[in-house]
Formats: sequence, C-alpha cells, structure tokens
Amino acid sequence: MAVLLTPVVTLPVVPAASRRRDLSCWLAFVQEAFANVPGRGWHSRVVWQRVAGWRSRELSSFEPSRMATLELAALLHDIGRALDPLDLSPHGFVGAQFLDDLGLTDIAPLVAHHSGARLDAAARGLEHLDRWESADPELQALLDYADRTVNSRGQMVTLAQRREELVARCGEDSAKTARFDLLLPDALRTEAWLATLS
Ligand SMILES: [Fe+2]
Repeated sequence: MAVLLTPVVTLPVVPAASRRRDLSCWLAFVQEAFANVPGRGWHSRVVWQRVAGWRSRELSSFEPSRMATLELAALLHDIGRALDPLDLSPHGFVGAQFLDDLGLTDIAPLVAHHSGARLDAAARGLEHLDRWESADPELQALLDYADRTVNSRGQMVTLAQRREELVARCGEDSAKTARFDLLLPDALRTEAWLATLS
C-alpha cells in the first residue's frame, strides 16, 4: 500500500518575541527556510523589495506602522510553502496560521488571502481552513500586485510577462492560469492606482 510520507520540515529558529517585527531577522529566516529552493527565497525577498520601493513615493502618505505591516507581509507571504512543501493546504492559510501563532495578527490575514488563496481553497474543497477576516483591502491589493509582478525566480516582471511564464509552466487551461486571469482586473486596477500616486 502506498503511504504518503510528509517530509519533516526543519525551519530556522524564529526571531525572539522582542525582534519579531525586525525585517532583517525575517530576511535571514526566509533565506534559510527556502535554502533548498532558493528561487522561492528570492521571490519572497524581491516581493518585499518591490513594496519597499513604493515607500518613499507612491506610498509616502502611509502611516509607518501600516507600511511596516505591508513590508513584513510581503516578505513572509509565501512562508507557508516552506512549512507545507507538499502543498497539502493553501499555502496562504498555512503561513497565516504560523504567523498568528507568533502573534503577528496584522500580517496573518494579508498572508492568508494573498493572490486568490480563497479561490485555491474553493477549488480544493478546503474553504473550511479559512479562519481569517479579510484585512485592509488596500494593503491586500498592493501585496497581491507585488506578488503578481515578481516571477518565481525573483525577477521583477510585467503582468503580461508573468502570465506568459505561467502559461509556459502550467498551460493555458490550467487552474493557476484561470486564477491569474480572474484576478487580473484587480491587479490592473492596482497598477493604475499606483501610477496616479507616483
Ligand atoms: Fe508569491
């Protein structure tokens, strides 16, 4: 009988409670957590860099604490992929549970629902795993847009380029491509909004 073996996940030591909002600690954590799949680590880091790049111009009117929430969510948005490498649950929810347990309750909902996690959960009949209220819609839109414009190797790309890569990897008729297309109008709206702020 085939037995599904869940890999033992060894995560780096999480930052101490006093440094739990310290981006530099989490940068090291993410790099180590994705040591076996460095592209994922780069993707996370560059999604954060994309968001941080808006700090002094497009998002200069944001409260520093709100900006800090967005930046940490950007860096940690895919951490569920390191915790659940077999992708047994929507990775946003896995990451959100981890962050909730660490007391990062403002980051968790953004991570839980990034880039259409609810659609992924619905497709798999796993909606019951969603325990998070939707967070700040502006921050969610910005996180999702940043995620959509950094490819799986950590390069900044346009929405069109990201879609091309997705089609090449998963196929035009794949669920991932369908989800990308469903969320594309939101991403285009966010892109246009950012352009008005620059
Ligand atoms: Fe991502």
